[in-house]
This record gives sequence, C-alpha cells and structure tokens, in this order.
Amino acid sequence: MNDHGVRHRAPQPLSKRRFPGPTPTVDRNDPRPPLNRGRRGPQKPHDLVDGSRPPPNSLDLPGMQSHTRSIRYVIETERLFLRPLTVDDVDTIVDLHADPRVNQFVGSYTRAEALARLTTIERQWNERGHGQCAVELKSTGELIGRSGLRYWDEFDETEVGWTFRAEHWGHGYATEAARACVDWGFAHLPIDYLTAMIRPANLASIRVAERLGFSVRRDDVLGNEPITIFALNRP
Ligand SMILES: CC(C)(COP(=O)(O)OP(=O)(O)OC[C@H]1O[C@@H](n2cnc3c(N)ncnc32)[C@H](O)[C@@H]1OP(=O)(O)O)[C@@H](O)C(=O)NCCC(=O)NCCS
Repeated sequence: MNDHGVRHRAPQPLSKRRFPGPTPTVDRNDPRPPLNRGRRGPQKPHDLVDGSRPPPNSLDLPGMQSHTRSIRYVIETERLFLRPLTVDDVDTIVDLHADPRVNQFVGSYTRAEALARLTTIERQWNERGHGQCAVELKSTGELIGRSGLRYWDEFDETEVGWTFRAEHWGHGYATEAARACVDWGFAHLPIDYLTAMIRPANLASIRVAERLGFSVRRDDVLGNEPITIFALNRP
C-alpha cells in the first residue's frame, strides 16, 4: 500500500533499479549544492529552480555518520534533522506503518511494498531534486517519522506529507517538520501551491494542515477512496 492506502505495483528487483542505489554522500569536490547532485536528463518544471546557490537549509555534516556512510541532511529545524529517505530505511518504515494507530489512514507496508515505495522516493530525489525525508530527533538521533515533498503525476501537483510514530505525537514535531518542508518547497521549486492530500476522517492530519495555513481546495478520489485536497498558495 502507499501513503494513502493505495496498493503498489510489484516492486522491481533491486538489481534492476534505474538509479544509483544509495543516497549520494557529500562530495566536497562537487560544486553543486547537495540537493542538486545526481540530477540527470531533461528537467521538469518541478525541479530545483536554481542549482547555482545552496539551499538555505541544506547541511553538510559529514561528521555525522550513519552505519555505512555520511548522512546528507537537507533541513534543520529547532528540534529536528531531515534527510532523504533511502532503501536502507526499509525496516524502519515497515515498523512505523505496522502500528494500527499510524496506519489507520495511510496503510501498512510489507517489506517488498516498503522497498518499492522507498525506491520511488530515491528516484524522485535523483530525478527531481526533492522527495520525502526521514525525520530525526536532534536530541537523540531517533528516527521519529517522515515528512517531505512528493510529486504526483496523476494530479501534476506536489504534496507535503507527514507521518510520525505514535509515541511522538502531540509535541508539534509533524508541524515543525512539515513547515520546514513547505518553506523549502516554496524556496526551491517553481510551484504556485503545495497540496496536502488527507482522508476526510483524519482529523489529526487536518489539524496539522490547518496549523500550517492550508485550506480545502477540492474533493478528489485516490485509489477509489474519497480524499480532500488541502492547498497552500505560495506566500
Ligand atoms: C498526522 C500526525 C502526524 C499528526 O501528529 P500530531 O502529533 O498530532 O501533530 P504535531 O506533531 O504537529 O503535534 C500537534 C499537537 O501537539 C501539540 N504541541 C505540543 N507542542 C507543540 C509545538 N511546539 N508546536 C506545535 N504543536 C505542539 C499541539 O497543541 C497539537 O495538539 P492538538 O492536536 O491537540 O492541537 C499523526 O497523527 C500521524 O502520524 N498519523 C498517522 C499517519 C497519518 O495519518 N499521516 C497523515 C496522512 S495525510
């Protein structure tokens, strides 16, 4: 299932992935800003506007290591670090979505489904220069959820999303992370508005959207289910 409970197509075997597997590490000899590395082919309207200047929120923190490589943080907030999700996050994502409190509106993932979703996320980062992020608590380094941007071909719109571990609800982390993603999106993408696609009964998510200034744009359908499209215009 995907973020909105829609079933994925069968995942491609890892050996056939059409993009470089791991998220690029920070390459100090590469003059491009971190979010503009790894781009190839013709660029679409939603790609970064100007690759010549580093994004204001991009961090180059090679000293902060994951198990196998440098972590490429792209956004820092008061309490959080955000970095691109990769296929290495598969077990964490399966675990995050296994909680019935979390998956009520966004569905759960088998390992294969999570791998397929993360593969798509990596491809969006590589091809579009933006995508969904793992959200880590600065104080502990714990991965507490995910947030970030997702381009939807079906709607020709870019959505900001948020999903957090239930034990971390009620602290404003989703709002803090999503607000930073919204700011980053308007600073770096040629878009007039961002959407938030929310099931009508998902009141906690609607509260996050409203706290960020989103309002209802239209009712739509996703995976044969009704969905409310909230939107926030470029300030
Ligand atoms: C949607 C979801 C991320 C919202 O989580 P949340 O904890 O309610 O959202 P926040 O982290 O922004 O916290 C906001 C709450 O924390 C409180 N809070 C505490 N400190 C805060 C701070 N510094 N800043 C903002 N809010 C703060 C707010 O008062 C608010 O409480 P309220 O909802 O009673 O008004 C969460 O319910 C979730 O992960 N759901 C499952 C996945 C999902 O449905 N995702 C959305 C798909 S569209």
